[in-house]
Amino acid sequence: MTTHDAPEGRRAPLAASSFARRVLGSPIAPLAVFPWRFAAAARWSLRTFGATTRWLFGSRENTNYTYDLTPRNREHLAWFVAHVAGIPLAEARGYIQEVLDDQALTAHVMGETARSRYRWLADRVPRYGRRIGWYAFVRALKPDVLVETGTDKGLGSVVLAAALLRNGKGRLISIDINPAAGYLISGRYAEVTELVISDSIAALAALEDVDLFIHDSDHTAEHEYAEFTAIAPNLRPDALSLSDNAHATDSMTRWAEETGREFLFFDERPARHWYPGAGIGTALPPR
Ligand SMILES: C[S@@+](CC[C@H](N)C(=O)[O-])C[C@H]1O[C@@H](n2cnc3c(N)ncnc32)[C@H](O)[C@@H]1O
Repeated sequence: MTTHDAPEGRRAPLAASSFARRVLGSPIAPLAVFPWRFAAAARWSLRTFGATTRWLFGSRENTNYTYDLTPRNREHLAWFVAHVAGIPLAEARGYIQEVLDDQALTAHVMGETARSRYRWLADRVPRYGRRIGWYAFVRALKPDVLVETGTDKGLGSVVLAAALLRNGKGRLISIDINPAAGYLISGRYAEVTELVISDSIAALAALEDVDLFIHDSDHTAEHEYAEFTAIAPNLRPDALSLSDNAHATDSMTRWAEETGREFLFFDERPARHWYPGAGIGTALPPR
């Protein structure tokens, strides 16, 4: 259970006795319920402290944290994907399970991580978090041209490439400004992926006929918005755009409103992690 999963803190019992009712209706009520208030807040804080300690000693990651989603959050994600992509719920659930069950992908990420010089700053076991939603969108929408800005290790890229391989068509263009990015992109995943080392704004302006766009690079509001305006002329009319940063800025809602797109947001809930989660912002083409 994460801090988000628990119901609201237990309430101070509403007094049964007439004495207690008198206390709760008097000016000393705040003092009387203080122990319950303290216990409720302390329970949340202790849970976060436990997750923090587990992470500090059990994980090697210093940025771009990875984790699983809580089971309920996975289910919410399936409903979200089904709605946005216009597919049956069972199909969306199936895609999410498909990537979680993909043993070849797991083995690939573990192998490349173990071989990488950056293995000391990566966790051994892959956990995809909200990227399972990206996977489901690619499986559902079967894009020919898929673009991800911000590659980092390449975890999102290989998840997306795995979806393209299952689709049997499409290519991924993943863009990162860091020449050391993308060490997970190799083997069959590299066959459908073009890694572009460049500032994303310059690279996006040169693309054509993009079916699915994912912003996950520089997360300043200005850069995120600049990416949307740079990619906009190069999107197909029915293209879907995703933002990995819609929980933190107003860039996608602003762009969606200005261009007549519909904005929807999936709120991510990590399991067993102190990080409160990000999300998937979606801007649907004008209907
Ligand atoms: C959050 S990470 C990407 C995570 C990745 N998409 C994944 O699924 O794990 C952000 C990446 O954006 C890259 N980045 C930062 N500024 C950029 C820019 N102006 N153009 C392209 N990439 C940039 C960073 O080098 C970093 O690797």
